[in-house]
Amino acid sequence: MTDTATSGLSRRDVLKTTGRVAAVSALAGVAIPKHAYAAENNTVQLALVGCGGRGTGAAGNAMSVTNGPTKLVAMADVFPNRLNDSYNNLKKSFDKKVDVSEGAKFIGFDGYKKAMDMLNPGDIVMLTTPPAFRWVQFEYAIEKGLNVFMEKPITVDGPSTRRMLALYEKAKAKNLKVGVGLMCRHCPARNELYDRIKNGEIGDLTLLRAYRVTGPTGSAFATKKPEGISELMYQIRNFHAFLWASGGGFSDFLIHNIDECCWMKDAWPVEAKGFGGRHYRGDYVDQNFDTYTVEYTFADGSKMMLEGRGMPGCHSEFASYAHGTKGSAVISTSSHWPSKARMYKSQNMTRKDDLVWQCKTEGPADNPYQVEWNDLLDAIRNDKPYNEVKRGAEASLVTAMGRAACHTGKIVTFDEMLAHEHEFAPGVNELDLEGPAPLKADKDGKYPVPMPGLLKNREYIEFPTA
Ligand SMILES: NC(=O)c1ccc[n+]([C@@H]2O[C@H](COP(=O)([O-])OP(=O)(O)OC[C@H]3O[C@@H](n4cnc5c(N)ncnc54)[C@H](O)[C@@H]3O)[C@@H](O)[C@H]2O)c1
Repeated sequence: MTDTATSGLSRRDVLKTTGRVAAVSALAGVAIPKHAYAAENNTVQLALVGCGGRGTGAAGNAMSVTNGPTKLVAMADVFPNRLNDSYNNLKKSFDKKVDVSEGAKFIGFDGYKKAMDMLNPGDIVMLTTPPAFRWVQFEYAIEKGLNVFMEKPITVDGPSTRRMLALYEKAKAKNLKVGVGLMCRHCPARNELYDRIKNGEIGDLTLLRAYRVTGPTGSAFATKKPEGISELMYQIRNFHAFLWASGGGFSDFLIHNIDECCWMKDAWPVEAKGFGGRHYRGDYVDQNFDTYTVEYTFADGSKMMLEGRGMPGCHSEFASYAHGTKGSAVISTSSHWPSKARMYKSQNMTRKDDLVWQCKTEGPADNPYQVEWNDLLDAIRNDKPYNEVKRGAEASLVTAMGRAACHTGKIVTFDEMLAHEHEFAPGVNELDLEGPAPLKADKDGKYPVPMPGLLKNREYIEFPTA
């Protein structure tokens, strides 16, 4: 295994709940180092870039932190209605903490720059657009000396991962604090499970299993572009349907389960072998498969099995499990939170007598979406090293490696994925509202799809432009 594959996983970059609470109360009356954040008046200013569902949620979490005042001062999106809806919702819930004048609302592909220009060095920009734009916007945030919260996945292919890893070094050199929305890493229950696994309580991990098998999710299953919207804006609105925008449903949805399994194993897999297919496509024209199965292999030969499916009428499961030489564990069950983490002294998780530990009831204070923000603000206010980008880029790459294995029908290694030259959206930093989309449809409005066995070295071939 390479250094790249193993590093970035030592997990003590998050606080335990007790430490966190202590840090928060210890803050009262303590002189805050001025360089750690911008405003002299102790308020950390926020800008939101990508005002959709998660962006609005993240802004809400940012304004609910318990460790010092925050205020939303600028917003950017490419759709006016998304920005306005987000603004109205946040204003209703957070009132004076939302201080975004009409002149601080920006629409367009350059809106991110204008929103960040409203901040001072040390403030926070939230990058919650589809993943394709992440490196572009992160680059500008670094230039401006801003702290950053960015949603997962943070890369979709080899070239964007290499770029993101280079930006990580730049951000680290500037001592910027950067959170990546793999929030399960901040979940107190999973952290306790991790410690117990590290203590050897279920022995050496030989198998991890992850499932996200549900009905169609997000915009992954998209029908033909209607009249009245440009190709580019249609693809952005339905970003789960397009590999350039999100890495597809695979990257966008499966990354959490992949990441939490790798965290428990304390390693990234070195290679992936995968299967998948398109079954009941009807009028859907997107690039996704309906089903995915991946066998990931770690350097010690142990495995992680992953199942992804977007199909109604089948068994549903959204969970991750670990199996060791002395027992087994539930990492998460029923979505992201509460995790309901627990451990068994056997491999049989249905036997109550074999239960040896279960996490305490997880209340609202343990919600990892909020905890990740408390941790970020704690790092900013107390100038603690805090940069989750390397780990986030590697989690995104490992996810892409599994997806590429399914899409090509080949075994794909970590190193091959990282070195891969297929860049899904080469001009993503130069898009404009009137311009063409990174992907072209054919005359029937369909997009190029993966063809395992036929296309061996890339996941799809773009249709030629006319
Ligand atoms: N951590 C989690 O559990 C979690 C949950 C949901 C979403 N997410 C992530 O958050 C991101 C956004 O997902 P979402 O569900 O909020 O999608 P969404 O479509 O609701 O929001 C995305 C927003 O970004 C805007 N946008 C697109 N391109 C833009 C650009 N270039 N500049 C400015 N704005 C732009 C869109 O118009 C939209 O308002 C994705 O990366 C997704 O994976 C994470």
